[in-house]
Amino acid sequence: MLQLKSINLKKEKMTTLIVPVCKDKDIHDNSDVSKLVTSAKKVKEFKGRANQELIFYNPPGVKVKKVVFLGIGKLKEIDPETLRSISGKAVKKCIKWKLSDVLFAVPAAQKVKLKMTDVLGAMMEGAFLANYIFDRYKKEKKDKKLTRLKFLVKPDTAKKQRRLPARIRKICSGTLMAREWVSTPSNDKRPGQFARSISAAAKKAKLKVSVITESQMKKKKMGSLLSVSAGSTSSARMMILEHNPRGAKKTIVLAGKGVTFDSGGINLKPGSGLDTMKMDMGGAASVAAALITAANLKLKTKIIGILPLVENMPSGSATRPGDIVKSLSGKTIEIGNTDAEGRLILIDAITYALKQYKPDTIIDMATLTGACVVALGEKIAGVFSSDDKLAKSIVESGEKTHERCWHMPLPDDYKPLLKSDLADINNVSSARWGGAITAALFLKEFTEDTQWAHIDIAGPAYTKKAEDYCPPGGTGFGVRLLCDWLEKQ
Ligand code: BES
Ligand code: ZN
Ligand code: ZN
Repeated sequence: MLQLKSINLKKEKMTTLIVPVCKDKDIHDNSDVSKLVTSAKKVKEFKGRANQELIFYNPPGVKVKKVVFLGIGKLKEIDPETLRSISGKAVKKCIKWKLSDVLFAVPAAQKVKLKMTDVLGAMMEGAFLANYIFDRYKKEKKDKKLTRLKFLVKPDTAKKQRRLPARIRKICSGTLMAREWVSTPSNDKRPGQFARSISAAAKKAKLKVSVITESQMKKKKMGSLLSVSAGSTSSARMMILEHNPRGAKKTIVLAGKGVTFDSGGINLKPGSGLDTMKMDMGGAASVAAALITAANLKLKTKIIGILPLVENMPSGSATRPGDIVKSLSGKTIEIGNTDAEGRLILIDAITYALKQYKPDTIIDMATLTGACVVALGEKIAGVFSSDDKLAKSIVESGEKTHERCWHMPLPDDYKPLLKSDLADINNVSSARWGGAITAALFLKEFTEDTQWAHIDIAGPAYTKKAEDYCPPGGTGFGVRLLCDWLEKQ
């Protein structure tokens, strides 16, 4: 639970106080905290450099049992992300120390040259996101989450920012929800199970939920989507989540790739790293969580979430390379590679959304290509759009939430690489290079004239290594970004 506190450290007892310390400036405006920082800096080895740590037990003048000073580096290095990281690191330490409760000394906004909402918001985000443990599959639950995350601020700040804790909790709970879905193993999130889990969470947030079953998809002729699930013993689903506030002017569609396991199909992937392909539904997880969060935040825009959920498996009934399938749009597709399945499910979802909702804008989020990870690494997503303004607004939201995106090119003259001699289009490029771009160009062919952007999150949706405010597993990348973007509409 996030709480703002304006307490007197001289009088009120506290177990643990976390104090971020800047190397070249006192960034606090609470005189008790500033005094503590001055005495900490008298300790020779402690300079306030990034990653330095110093602990005082029962220091004189305040009633705090343990004061933890965490170096944050030079003033010019302080931005919302360093604040998220520092509070995230602090929470991780407190969990290890088996604490239940912690108080953060919040730097003064004007001293770090930021807005108070940004300073406090970032500290709360880092703390809330780090206070998360995925131990559902452990018999022995070693660590426990903290029950209270408190932030020390002046009384007028507490008053002005009184709505911020609930807002940060709603947004970050969305991220945690997406993490939980992504980290869940594929044997517990086959399309039907995953759909039920999303449905339960969405209904709680009062979203309208509908589910298209595989037999309904056959009637509607979603041949492209169905070709991906043909090899699996689990049947596919397409979920639609609707946030429909009264008086909304615009309609936004968010589509998310939901491949609950991507074996590659008949073009079976090599063994190494195959286990991480449980994360191939990261786009669907982030879109579902963003819709739930949008509903909780009572956003004013009409938002439709479209989630094609399938499992991509090889078997006697699986689609073969060379097969030709007919998409919902009527266009035929030659399957050059059964491992390029994400685009096949997304285009039927996009066509359905265009027909059904005539949206102003459509954004899809997908763990679409390994090529995007080659291009941008594991922390940065690729944004593809023929609308530069739309791409820019997405990149800006990502800067704000530190879910970084890079605007990638979408050149028309790469389109012939998707030519098929026998069908209208091939699902893979005839060239070896530029796979993230040709995947995006494939999607573009099905967006008609609607304003559209595609976010390839193959890199950042999952992490094998623990980060400052994210344990190994699903990262929930994109939820906070989408919420920020939706709020701007
Ligand atoms: N799910 C993968 C993309 C992926 C790769 C996600 C690494 C996360 C980490 C996607 O379905 C895929 O297999 N893409 C192929 C496309 C190729 C066959 C044209 C790829 O990127 O190799
Ligand atoms: Zn694949
Ligand atoms: Zn995939």
